[in-house]
Amino acid sequence: MKYLITGGAGFIGSALSRLLAENPENRVVVLDKLTYAGSMGSLRSLKGKSNFRFVCGDIRDRSLVSSLLADEEITTIIHLAAESHVDRSIDSPALVMDTNVMGTLVLLEAALAHWRSFSTAARGNFRFHHVSTDEVFGDLGPADPCFTEQSPYAPSSPYAASKAAADHLVRAWHRTYGLPVVLTNCSNNHGPFQFPEKLIPLTILNALQGVSIPIYGTGGNVRDWLHVEDHARALALVARSGRIGASYNIGGEAECSNLTLVESICDTLDRKKPDPSGRSYRNLITFVTDRPGHDRRYGLDISNIRTELGWTPTYTLNAGIENTIDWYLQNSWWWQPIRDERYGGERLGLEQTRPGTAKDHPSLSAKATILPEMQM
Ligand code: NAD
Ligand code: TYD
Repeated sequence: MKYLITGGAGFIGSALSRLLAENPENRVVVLDKLTYAGSMGSLRSLKGKSNFRFVCGDIRDRSLVSSLLADEEITTIIHLAAESHVDRSIDSPALVMDTNVMGTLVLLEAALAHWRSFSTAARGNFRFHHVSTDEVFGDLGPADPCFTEQSPYAPSSPYAASKAAADHLVRAWHRTYGLPVVLTNCSNNHGPFQFPEKLIPLTILNALQGVSIPIYGTGGNVRDWLHVEDHARALALVARSGRIGASYNIGGEAECSNLTLVESICDTLDRKKPDPSGRSYRNLITFVTDRPGHDRRYGLDISNIRTELGWTPTYTLNAGIENTIDWYLQNSWWWQPIRDERYGGERLGLEQTRPGTAKDHPSLSAKATILPEMQM
């Protein structure tokens, strides 16, 4: 198979690229803009592999995407490139829409032209796999049943709204133009190489640095956690064997409140790397102003992917968290420069700090609302 992985220098995309490149019969081409969230270090183990190629570029660059698809004779696109952080989406919604919605549109258009250039027989082998989130469904009450693939869309944050819009585009390109697509909606991931703006790596690194660990609101919000390697396996499986036009929920069946999770990370660190003062890392937990629009609970019904494709998560939450903590303890070469130079852990997404105008992204402050590279 010849894969184009967008966002392959990010957290999940790099895990997927590492997995796919293990098979010498696969060709893995990563297209990534290397925004603040992308890192070549995450692809270090693939350097020099003959079945791997990295291209630094923007998914919104139509001519670049089209030539890559043609030159590399791509048969499977797995689309992960995105602005992926809810808090940043509260601060800069226009950038998030540009990347997540318009970027997906550019890819779909390039993919459609590429697919149409194939013979009828070859068309059957092509897939456009869109990687999405459970956040498109909005949130659940404490006793609500988990989201299924049929749950209505009700996104809360600008990030979730952008992913919902992209999901709708992908389905429309299937229904209207016949593009062979599959979609996946996954719960919260954790594991190696996650940018330390997200709850789990932020907690680990703040603890190690001895600074406060911020819990939004009461810490009662619930997320369903999945180890990134389990997600990568599911993505590879769906891209290869998923039903065309179908969506699959992917989750860990591991719901946990933020406070319980953070306390258990502190307890694990107390065991593995005790603070020299002898005090528990739990003392660093600090309750801070809640996130605007904060979703209360996510939980996914994964019976579809389990029965249809035979996928199931392999990590329990405890084993996964232990693995994640061990990785951060052993890999400061990866996170220390990021923490020093790109993001030091300051609070993001407090709506009051936003200018409140469209100036947060040049495409909306300019007279024309369409960026030149988006004209097709
Ligand atoms: P990430 O922020 O770690 O990585 C995103 C990558 O996309 C980065 O390498 C960045 O450089 C790249 N990128 C951003 N804009 C780009 C552009 N215009 N052109 C090319 N590359 C660009 O994100 P992640 O956590 O790995 O998430 C990957 C995908 O999975 C996203 O689509 C996200 O919505 C989805 N997802 C994430 C989670 C999660 O828990 N992290 C859960 C479900 C779904
Ligand atoms: P996050 O890792 O940002 O993922 P998402 O918003 O996509 O679920 O946040 C996970 C949960 O942790 C979410 O309920 C918000 C909360 N949270 C905190 O309490 N403190 C923090 O510093 C961060 C980043 C998140």
